[in-house]
Amino acid sequence: MDKLLIAGGAPLKGEVAMSGAKNAALPLLTAALLTGEPLTLTNVPALNDIGTMLKLLAQMGVKVERAGDRVTLDAGGLDNSVAPYELVKTMRASVLVLGPLVARSGEARVSLPGGCAIGARPVDQHIKGLQAMGAEIAVEHGYVHAKASRLRGARLFTDMVTVTGTENLMMAACLADGETVIENAAREPEVVDLANCLVAMGARISGAGTDVIRIHGVARLHGAEHRIMPDRIETGTYLCAAAATGGDVRLTGTSAAYLDAVIDKLMDAGCDIELSRDAIRLKAPPRLASVSIRTAPYPAFPTDMQAQFMAINATAAGTAVIRETIFENRFMHAVELIRLGADIKIDGNIAIVKGMDRLDGATVMATDLRASAGLVIAGLVAQGETLVDRIYHLDRGYEKLEQKLAALGARVSRVK
Ligand code: UD1
Repeated sequence: MDKLLIAGGAPLKGEVAMSGAKNAALPLLTAALLTGEPLTLTNVPALNDIGTMLKLLAQMGVKVERAGDRVTLDAGGLDNSVAPYELVKTMRASVLVLGPLVARSGEARVSLPGGCAIGARPVDQHIKGLQAMGAEIAVEHGYVHAKASRLRGARLFTDMVTVTGTENLMMAACLADGETVIENAAREPEVVDLANCLVAMGARISGAGTDVIRIHGVARLHGAEHRIMPDRIETGTYLCAAAATGGDVRLTGTSAAYLDAVIDKLMDAGCDIELSRDAIRLKAPPRLASVSIRTAPYPAFPTDMQAQFMAINATAAGTAVIRETIFENRFMHAVELIRLGADIKIDGNIAIVKGMDRLDGATVMATDLRASAGLVIAGLVAQGETLVDRIYHLDRGYEKLEQKLAALGARVSRVK
């Protein structure tokens, strides 16, 4: 299993380009299931999760052509509506095939994702929404089996804000008979990116980016070409790495437009930030000030940036309070940070982080994607060497991580 060896202490300096957003790319790839014509996506990041989704689509009969960051999908020959456990268990976002499959082929068998390191994460809201649209759903042998000759528009209300739930239902509604209204919809920019692509494919959607999305179903969608938005979480992660190491970086091919909550906190921590149309420059002070955060659905502070902020608070001046409100078990990185010398106390969904003068390198274990990112940041700050084990989590969501960090002067290498 690959590990990442980090020699800490070097401030990150220089310029590096950000990739397309993983969390936008995954639903966009499944949108190809909604049409028999080719859908071309550009700015697709080279990540293991993308590979998993392409494999899943290919075994359903979707033709996949990939050249660099350009992927063309042709679901004209779609002949299998099953998403098997072997693929779904490695990536929960596989459930995004459910809505498009029922809507276009009238049937889907999708494995239940099961638990994951950061919590139970059920898909009951996806199921409830599709049932309200007339799908017959049975959960048997660990699979969701959905059937509908044609979905019909409905008024949908989700009990909590769910990102992939909103995306699944929005895609299904595109081919339903009549109007669907999704209330309490997720407002995440990735939902808007998906809606923009669906509209380019002929869908009639309004309200994406607000908490009420209206979809007027059409008989069919057609092919389109769409450029995937920049990855706001990758961007935020590199900003944190620069901030924590006292660095000075310019990130290109990205935008601060979707990062207000994160940029605001980095400024509170004492960073100097300059924004231009498609780049962000961050200059860090010699020592950051602690910043407290509370995660919540967009536009509030993203849960996917929580671990990175725990890492930067570990050596900031002062004490920070971190509240996680989205996932019930998302502090696994805390015990690993403590192994590096951090002072963190956990009480339920609250972590109190007292900033230390320094961290010391050690071997730590990555437990999920963003937890791993937090550990890498801590390793870049720590004195001496840090070995981050199980970095397959990082390969799921950070394109060319070692190369990008090395381009900014970090001393990192992959150990086989
Ligand atoms: C997406 C993101 C993930 C991010 C998360 C929250 C993708 C591919 N992944 O995950 O990176 O951390 O949003 O911003 O976009 N819930 C239910 N029942 C459901 C659906 C959700 O109880 O049917 C709960 C979840 O357990 C969780 C909360 O709702 O506690 C939010 O989850 P959700 O927004 O659905 O997360 P994902 O879409 O899986």
